[in-house]
Amino acid sequence: MVKSGKPAEGLGINTFLTHCGNDPYEYHGFVNPPVIRGSTVLFKDAATMATENQKYTYGTHGTPTTTALCEAINQLEGSEGTILVSSGLAAVTVPLLAFLEKGDHILFVDTIYFPTRRFANTMLKRLGIEVEYYPPHIGADIAKLIRPNTRIIFTESPGSNTFEIQDIPAIVKAAHAQDVIVMMDNTWATPLYFKALDYGVDITIHAGTKYPSGHSDVLFGMVSSTEKYWKQLYDSYSALGMCVNSDDAYLILRGLRSMGLRLNHHQQSALTVARWLEQQPQVARVLHPALESHPDHELWKRDFKGASGVFSFVLAQGGTTEAHKLLDTIQLFGLGYSWGGYESLAVHVQLGDRTVSANDYEGPVIRLQIGLEDTQDLINDLQQGLAAIS
Ligand SMILES: Cc1ncc(COP(=O)(O)O)c(C=O)c1O
Repeated sequence: MVKSGKPAEGLGINTFLTHCGNDPYEYHGFVNPPVIRGSTVLFKDAATMATENQKYTYGTHGTPTTTALCEAINQLEGSEGTILVSSGLAAVTVPLLAFLEKGDHILFVDTIYFPTRRFANTMLKRLGIEVEYYPPHIGADIAKLIRPNTRIIFTESPGSNTFEIQDIPAIVKAAHAQDVIVMMDNTWATPLYFKALDYGVDITIHAGTKYPSGHSDVLFGMVSSTEKYWKQLYDSYSALGMCVNSDDAYLILRGLRSMGLRLNHHQQSALTVARWLEQQPQVARVLHPALESHPDHELWKRDFKGASGVFSFVLAQGGTTEAHKLLDTIQLFGLGYSWGGYESLAVHVQLGDRTVSANDYEGPVIRLQIGLEDTQDLINDLQQGLAAIS
């Protein structure tokens, strides 16, 4: 927001988030950009129309509101360009469609967000793409799975629901040695806690639905690319007719302003709850990479600047009956999908789709999203839930 619309290097993250994106002096000094709704954009004369020599040409190609958000994200990510799509899932599928061709081979981490797997196993296979899964701890050994036709290595760290940390620099090194693209679903950490492009990732994916929105009222996705892949990403996006409305883009930009503060609260509160859960006799283990007890803690500490508010815990015994009893007893945790909003959520996680990663948990796995409530209230609530299954 600063006069140039581009905050200087070296500022603290909350200062950065306050000032990134739009330049208020382009809009008469109003602090926020206007919400421009529109399909048609008029050209001032036939020659301009013929050459399309103006910044905006048609609503699908962007508006001043979407530009403000794209600029904010590029500044945050250090990316060449960002596309905006209608959901986090679309932020996964669009870059895959942009770079894959019939006969290509793609490697997905086995702990991937389930709808990404569904897209791979249905659409990608139907398009003649070879889909293979690899275990999350593979690291440099990914080189052994790279084939002459491997086009993309798809990463997600931590893994969905079970929170394994991947060695992204090792994977990037092996991939780039053979000109393979590395994509990362970085929704959990956001660029605040893991700056994926700085670690060599080529294309980074975010469900804006989660922390950028922060209020469970928008579905949104962002994909950011390095210079090398930007043109192909953007051209495919345009060809697919993907776009977002300015109202949603505005809400995401608004969410970014407070994301650092919210994430900090999510982080502190989730860690406190996780540490408390570790002490409970009904809990076998807590799957949270910022806990010293987590097997990937050192890797997390090496690469990540923080942890967000989603993690899981494993009950020491029991099955679906105990998991449901716990979920039905707690009152402050809503039973619902998604995360990143201001409210706490809980879900009994199903892991049956995995093919090459360990799945030997002592009991049911419960995922928690820790919201902005007071931490002690959440602990008291969970205590009731655990007491109900004792
Ligand atoms: C890691 C991850 N990526 C992507 C998505 C998809 O986001 P959306 O719900 O906006 O489609 C989710 C949703 O839960 C997610 O957990």
